Amino acid sequence: MPGSNRAHVRAQHPDVPNFDWRSLLKVVSTGPSTTTCNRMKSYQLPIISSFKTLFTLLFAVTIGIAAQGADKKIVVGFSQIGAESGWRTANTESIKSEAAKRGIELKFADAQQKQENQIKALRSFVAQGVDVIAFSPVVETGWESVLREIKRAGIPVVLSDRAVAVTDKSLYVTFIGSDFVEEGRRAAEWLAKASGGKAAIAELVGTPGSAPAIDRKKGFEEVLRKYPDMKIIKSQSGDFTRAKGKEVMETFLKSPEAKQINALFAHNDDMALGAIQAMEEAGVKPGKDILIVSIDGVRGAFEAMAAGKLNCTVECNPLIGPQLFDAVDAILAKKTLLKRTAVQEGVYEQSQAAAELPNRKY
Ligand code: AHR
Repeated sequence: MPGSNRAHVRAQHPDVPNFDWRSLLKVVSTGPSTTTCNRMKSYQLPIISSFKTLFTLLFAVTIGIAAQGADKKIVVGFSQIGAESGWRTANTESIKSEAAKRGIELKFADAQQKQENQIKALRSFVAQGVDVIAFSPVVETGWESVLREIKRAGIPVVLSDRAVAVTDKSLYVTFIGSDFVEEGRRAAEWLAKASGGKAAIAELVGTPGSAPAIDRKKGFEEVLRKYPDMKIIKSQSGDFTRAKGKEVMETFLKSPEAKQINALFAHNDDMALGAIQAMEEAGVKPGKDILIVSIDGVRGAFEAMAAGKLNCTVECNPLIGPQLFDAVDAILAKKTLLKRTAVQEGVYEQSQAAAELPNRKY
């Protein structure tokens, strides 16, 4: 305060002790010097000492909060679909191990293939106040209302592996996953080449309403339109599981069209592996009597290819834990993310199986 103002205030309030703020700050930060102590008048001491206490407290609280912030673990809630396939098990492992590696606290919930369980888990993550919510939606639709609740709570959402069908794209920050339509196209292109463009196809569809089931079918049929002699003659869901894939293939092999079937398109390897079992039990040679193409690229598929029972697998990479937590870090650092991050994948045939097997990580 300039000297003239200070004199004016002193004149108006003669009862208020005359503070020297620079001395006071020095006292708070270094403790009172001998000269400062000597200069203190008896009426100033209680006030100075309460200001000192207040400043010290504020200082301690600020430091405490900062230290707590630095130590605070990032908490991520992840709702997984279930454990329906080898792919899913590898995906879960990739997410859990990456969280542990980065010291992130992961609240993991297994929905056992049920959307209602996923919605419950998402709401419980909101109640627990996690920093980020990630999930792999079992089906595409029916998420709008819970996603709006999460948005109102101010928690960012990352979609992992599967997308949702929502009109308001601001309900999630980013989607990390494979291009399922392209996977379907790749499977059909391979089959067109291997069958010379002539095939009576049985199709094992994934979980009804799920993004991979919808998109893989779409991509596969898109390519089929170029080949008039390639037709899907049987199609049913095997729910992405080996047991269901086997069961449905058994019914295909007992149907009136059984004799015509010379190709199988399975939306994932697990269903193809179940179907192989059904074929063997029915005396049909998998990979020879019936050409088989499936999707995922799990170790079991490579083993079946090396044994000549499966003809082709289109890769769908489940090891997306590192990309998922890179996205979490970027969100918390307030960086802008792409709305969609695709995963790089290949196509493998029987001739490559033996050489590729030792490299398979899932
Ligand atoms: O969403 C990816 C798909 O889900 C995989 O192809 C399948 O195996 C899994 O269950």
